[in-house]
Amino acid sequence: MEKQVPHPKLQIAVIVSGHGRGSNFQAIVDATESGAVPARIRLLISTNSDCGAVGRAANHGIETLVLTPEKFDSEVAFDEAVAEAITSRGIDLICLAGYMRKLTPEFILQFRDRIMNIHPALLPAFGGQGMYGIHVHKAVIESGAKFSGATVHLVDEHYDHGPIVAQAVVSVADDDTPQTLADRVLRAEHRIYPEAIALFAEGRLSVNGRRVRVNS
Ligand code: GRF
Repeated sequence: MEKQVPHPKLQIAVIVSGHGRGSNFQAIVDATESGAVPARIRLLISTNSDCGAVGRAANHGIETLVLTPEKFDSEVAFDEAVAEAITSRGIDLICLAGYMRKLTPEFILQFRDRIMNIHPALLPAFGGQGMYGIHVHKAVIESGAKFSGATVHLVDEHYDHGPIVAQAVVSVADDDTPQTLADRVLRAEHRIYPEAIALFAEGRLSVNGRRVRVNS
């Protein structure tokens, strides 16, 4: 068996589900490879082999584990398999990047304050169950809001609810469609997700209740 050599950099696992593009995964890969984020993506976990992130991981020599939820007896059993993959590889930080499944309370307890997610709106507005993908941007436009944006947050037991790590604001234009707004927000996502991970990797985040402080 290959000997595990401890790696000095923060070790990240990215988790995705469905048939997504994997553009946030790519943004994190690029930022780790350029050195902007002092971390290494050790593992990609996907619920599906047919998605953007899996192909992108292959291009960058990143180990991929496909875990199919239907093959497990329960959500707890599925999350236990994810947890086992993560602990056995010495992962420090879990990044959800287009992961649509709700994590079990057991999983969140095990990795408390070590799971990040990105959401395509300014939480706590326009989050929660059903608020994903284009639905978010449709709801923002219908609300008449002048600004939207992206939020990186730590994951707790509720959808889109954990302590906020970073946000970026974008304008909502009068002639925006959900898609044009989604495109603008996505560019902000690609900027702030790596930035938030870098803060974590540099040990600069401290969590106090719902507030995350960025230490200099
Ligand atoms: C992003 O919009 C992210 O905010 C949400 O899922 C989407 C994933 O997109 N959580 P991609 O697969 O990273 O392109």
